[in-house]
Amino acid sequence: MVSLNPNFKILTGNYLFSEISYKVNNFVKKYPNLELFKLGIGNTTEPLTGSVIQALHEAIERLAHIKTYTGYGDEQGNKKLREEIKSHYKKKGIQIEAEEIFISDGAKPDVANIQSLFSKNAVIAIQDPVYPVYVDSNILAGRKNFVYLPATKENGFFPNIPSKKVDLIYLCSPNNPTGAVATKEQLQAFIDYARSKRAIIIFDAAYDMFIQDNGLPKSIYEIEGSKECCIEINSFSKSAGFTGVRLGWTVVPKSLVCEYTQENELNRMWFRRQATMFNGASNIAQAGGLAVLSAKGQEECKNLTNYYMKNAHYIVQHLKGFGLTIFGGINAPYIWVKTPENTTSWEFFDLLLEKAHVVVTPGVGFGQQGEGYIRISAFGHKENIKKAVEGIGKNIHL
Ligand code: MLT
Repeated sequence: MVSLNPNFKILTGNYLFSEISYKVNNFVKKYPNLELFKLGIGNTTEPLTGSVIQALHEAIERLAHIKTYTGYGDEQGNKKLREEIKSHYKKKGIQIEAEEIFISDGAKPDVANIQSLFSKNAVIAIQDPVYPVYVDSNILAGRKNFVYLPATKENGFFPNIPSKKVDLIYLCSPNNPTGAVATKEQLQAFIDYARSKRAIIIFDAAYDMFIQDNGLPKSIYEIEGSKECCIEINSFSKSAGFTGVRLGWTVVPKSLVCEYTQENELNRMWFRRQATMFNGASNIAQAGGLAVLSAKGQEECKNLTNYYMKNAHYIVQHLKGFGLTIFGGINAPYIWVKTPENTTSWEFFDLLLEKAHVVVTPGVGFGQQGEGYIRISAFGHKENIKKAVEGIGKNIHL
């Protein structure tokens, strides 16, 4: 008789965002006529830009004709798209080869699957609070050895390097959920640590386009020594509105080294993994990605990210005015809010839902250090953001 993967039992009951949906659906059933403002999951709301729409239409049209139809594409992803991503890095002074870039259907699957390159007894360092996928994917793979690195108000929500030896380190900057952004010096300390221990850093850069301050690093490869020890994962989801279209990429440098590996081994292993378990991102989505990376597409996407950042600044400014203690929201689309009067994350979540009809994400859902915080997402129509913020001001008395 087949037995089940016992590690599913170790996971918390529901995935965080499914738990929130469940609560919200119950609320809607109870009050079907109330207007609800969903600032929980970071889901994009604004339409795709003009040049992307045009490229998607053209890609569909190519599929309609025998001469231009294409089926499976290059195993690592459309070569032209990988070349464009390479140029995208080059503009930041970073040298990455097209063979080091792997196109995916978004950052989440890669962030979840990348752990399959490493041994079961790898010690995993995780920021706390953290995007839950890093932890859950490792639990499901049977790993038990986690080192949590607190990211608290005291350290500006960026952790100190591990005090003991770890093998894999997950970092996310701009950070989901706290909205904090690591400085070059902070990232350099992690890279120096990783090189000295032959550890690997998985760097989630999905929110890089939201950085407003040019002095802050947008890619881990801006930091010296990073190509020896860092895998970077990125996405078109938040910067170009591809949350539903699905497209991302992962960089696995040939020069990565960890214990018992030879140069280029991890790159070839990831190629083998993807060739076995993934048949590539949709050719339509990849055509859209090419449009995003064109000069016009980049300009349009800048407007898109600016739109959400204006929402973020509006939320920050007004909630501060109401007397709440706020972090993030300056170089990231997430606002990390201290719950008032020692309420727990879920208590404040319930209060905001019931009194202001605003859905947020309870900080404790991202880890123990998130208790006493909620996360507000700036992804939303600006009119709804304004109504949500007004609702909080009117109905939540501090
Ligand atoms: C979030 O709200 O944390 C993200 O939107 C979830 C995701 O990107 O998977």
